[in-house]
Amino acid sequence: MEKFYLTTPIYYVNDVPHIGHAYTTVACDVLARYQRMNGREVLFLTGTDEHGQKIERAARERGLEPIGLADQVVERYRQLWVKLNISNDDFIRTSQERQYRAVAEIWRRVKANGDIYLGEYEDWYCVHDESFFTGLQDEKPACPDCGRPLEKIKEASYFFRMSKYQEKLLQHIESHPEFITPQTRKNEIVSFVKGGLRDLSISRTTFRWGIPVPDDPGHIIYVWFDALANYLTGAGFPDNDARFSRFWPADLHVIGKDILRFHAVYWPTFLMAAGLPLPRRVFAHGWWTVEGKKMSKSLGNVVDPGEVAARFGVDAFRYFLLREVPFGLDGDYSQTALVGRINSDLANDLGNLFSRVLAMVTRYRGGEYPSAEIGPEEKALIAAAEKARDEYHRLLPELAFQSVLIAVWELVGEMNRYIDRTAPWNLAKDPEKKGRLDTVLFTSLEALRWITMFVSPFLPDSGTEMLKQLGLAGSEWNRDFSFLSEWRKSWPPGRVQRGPALFPRIE
Ligand code: ME8
Repeated sequence: MEKFYLTTPIYYVNDVPHIGHAYTTVACDVLARYQRMNGREVLFLTGTDEHGQKIERAARERGLEPIGLADQVVERYRQLWVKLNISNDDFIRTSQERQYRAVAEIWRRVKANGDIYLGEYEDWYCVHDESFFTGLQDEKPACPDCGRPLEKIKEASYFFRMSKYQEKLLQHIESHPEFITPQTRKNEIVSFVKGGLRDLSISRTTFRWGIPVPDDPGHIIYVWFDALANYLTGAGFPDNDARFSRFWPADLHVIGKDILRFHAVYWPTFLMAAGLPLPRRVFAHGWWTVEGKKMSKSLGNVVDPGEVAARFGVDAFRYFLLREVPFGLDGDYSQTALVGRINSDLANDLGNLFSRVLAMVTRYRGGEYPSAEIGPEEKALIAAAEKARDEYHRLLPELAFQSVLIAVWELVGEMNRYIDRTAPWNLAKDPEKKGRLDTVLFTSLEALRWITMFVSPFLPDSGTEMLKQLGLAGSEWNRDFSFLSEWRKSWPPGRVQRGPALFPRIE
């Protein structure tokens, strides 16, 4: 069995989860479910990034110890992921013992390779982004990313010889076209690296909340050196050789474009220095604004994903996030857009189609599955279904969620047209057309089975409900894509079980 190891970023615990965090995590969840249905052994990792000055300060402001703050916020994340039906296999916290062991071991390896040295550090630092900026001319510069004032830091520090890896990294990027995606992001990184890599300060003495440097505990390891290592820890490094050799390298790190440099420059060079294989792929998605504005606490427009899901439905929210904008581009969240998608795509197109077919099977055949003969109308529908399936398997591994959903909804449209053309309500009036009616009803059921499987990774609860209403919940051929290799003309005896509307309209 092939494996698939994918990760979300680990989220900072100084703040509560919002729609941006939900976005990355839902996207990964769809991929994880897809790969499982494709017969892969999946390791899907998410978690929290708990160390560093920013968390230490945020905790102090609230009168808490850093770990106390982390414990509270971690609970918020865990609960949200349960609510949003996230199927992560593991949840890593950088405050865990296993992370301390992994980070110390990587440090030792990089050091043994001659790539860590003690020096003195002076630079502008943004505590909020945990990020350095050099060559700034202003006397009191602001962070080029978030606009907050920068702080001058001067201290003894360990350095990582990142400069040594400039050429090797460029070669790797050139010879592995999938390593950084989308393409525009890759170009950004290539020009950044060509601009020259400086050695990187990777320890601090100005705060305590973090993992100490092995053999020099006065220094705390730079939070990004620590955080990135979570991907190794999650795969069992350094203690669990069997798990590590099974799952590493990661197949995919999904991140927002804000943290691409850390993943496409720092991370691969750390790994090269530690003598470890690089992840196969990093995908940086775009940025959400809310009703046209940047999300911020001061604007009071931070969208709580738990609230949206409770009000409009978990599946509807998941669908909206991945249908609304091409993954990789920026998007805007608005309630109007969300409600529009729910009413048109989910309630009107898919929901109506589904209940219409089940109602006819119930009315004309007492709910029992008929069987089908394949005629020209059916051939056209089957061709449309096969096309949707091929698009689906071509585009999902490319993280083209929007295009995948469009392809599936084209099939939904084809089915609606098939039913209108064949007009089963007219066939039902003529006893001589019994065979033809059976064909139309069963062909529709089979097409719904395909659609159910296509939407399941995106809409897991609805997928389960659709299977149940199709009467296939107990069937072995329900959750694995190999069962779409063949179009069926009959199913084992059984019956549909009509249930509540899948996606009620929102007024
Ligand atoms: O950066 N739109 O954690 P973080 C889209 N701990 N995605 C968004 C978003 C938005 N408006 N806001 C946040 C960190 N995200 C580090 C990561 S990984 C080794 C360490 C998502 O809590 C997006 O995935 O600031 C982004 O990369 C991530 O949240 C940043 O989360």
